[in-house]
Amino acid sequence: MGPVQIKDNIYWVGVLDWDIRDFHGYSTPKGTTYNSYLVIDEKITLFDGVKRPFKNDLLESICKIVDPRRIDYLVVNHVEMDHSGSIPELVELIQPEKVVCSPMGKKTLIDHFNRDDWPFHVVETGHQLKLGKKTVSFFETRMLHWPDSMMSYLTEDRILISSDAFGEHWATSERFDDEVDSAELFSHAAKYYANILLLYSPLVQKLIAKFAQAGIEPAMIAPDHGLIWRKDVGGIVSAYGRWSRQESLKKAIVVYDTMWYATASMADAIGEGLKQEGLDFKLFDLKCNHRSDIMTEVLDASAIVIGSATINNGMMPAMADMLTYMKGLKPHGKVGGAFGSYGWSGEAVKQISDWMREMNISLVNDGLRVKFTPKKQDLEKCVEFGRQVARAALEKMESAPRTRS
Ligand code: FEO
Repeated sequence: MGPVQIKDNIYWVGVLDWDIRDFHGYSTPKGTTYNSYLVIDEKITLFDGVKRPFKNDLLESICKIVDPRRIDYLVVNHVEMDHSGSIPELVELIQPEKVVCSPMGKKTLIDHFNRDDWPFHVVETGHQLKLGKKTVSFFETRMLHWPDSMMSYLTEDRILISSDAFGEHWATSERFDDEVDSAELFSHAAKYYANILLLYSPLVQKLIAKFAQAGIEPAMIAPDHGLIWRKDVGGIVSAYGRWSRQESLKKAIVVYDTMWYATASMADAIGEGLKQEGLDFKLFDLKCNHRSDIMTEVLDASAIVIGSATINNGMMPAMADMLTYMKGLKPHGKVGGAFGSYGWSGEAVKQISDWMREMNISLVNDGLRVKFTPKKQDLEKCVEFGRQVARAALEKMESAPRTRS
């Protein structure tokens, strides 16, 4: 796809990756984009590279506007390989006057590419760079998504080139938020937040506050993945506020893996109990749901109930995968409980409870175990277990301070 003008003398020159289906453990059924932005001014400037195999697509796009060798400044907002993989070859071709990056960016570029001879121009928060008529202000955004991350703000045009933040993994021929279905766009943005940024939520809150304090009100947010926000900038910033506060809905998720459907029967009965107390619920069998889709549901769930059969004195392997992933993303403020069927030893429920405590999930009890196939009285206990979780979740929601942006 060729360049797209987003403002006078500012172009999207990114690339579409329609085929990627796994992004370091995150399922991407609709692909992704690697966005680069080209600014034509007295100093021609390229913001961010693309994943290495797409370098020629990027260059083809740039060539439709300007000879890439005329680029003066190459800004590297983030060094993860989906953006920096092409940087060595771009530097070689362009021979830029400056490679602009944060202090950690310089270190990380050298760690990746072993090139300390590049013409680094290190910028920190508050530094500005004149391109001619246009000015770039830089903001270090450590851990959003890596320690080297920063954002670039085109001050006259009020365009925030936001690197990973405010993005989506979604390949589309459209480039702007108002050209696609808004509900689908926000669902991709939520999945992206839940799987990439959730653990850095306190930093997201600080970032939003920092921009407000600095009086920065972008007219456009141009992330390095997905669509450019120009119609609903307020909507995505507000969503980041909600997601970073981990505001929860009257919603529970029941995540389980089952061996011979006994644990699945327990999940059904627990769902019934949740609903009886007024909590909507969704069931996720790990045999047919991806960990990253489940994390999207974790984002705004008030309760998480997790179950596994016991196999070889432990939990089912898919559950270990799920819990490892979930723990790393640090969901906050949930209530829940563990359950599962067992035959003779039954360690899975205790193991899951221990994991959930480590995630600071408030457990309603030590878990519910059922020997082999649940009988009528066992299913009644499961319903009551669901009701207990729902009551605890609703009580927590009622006592939580209300903050809305
Ligand atoms: Fe899109 Fe953290 O890289």
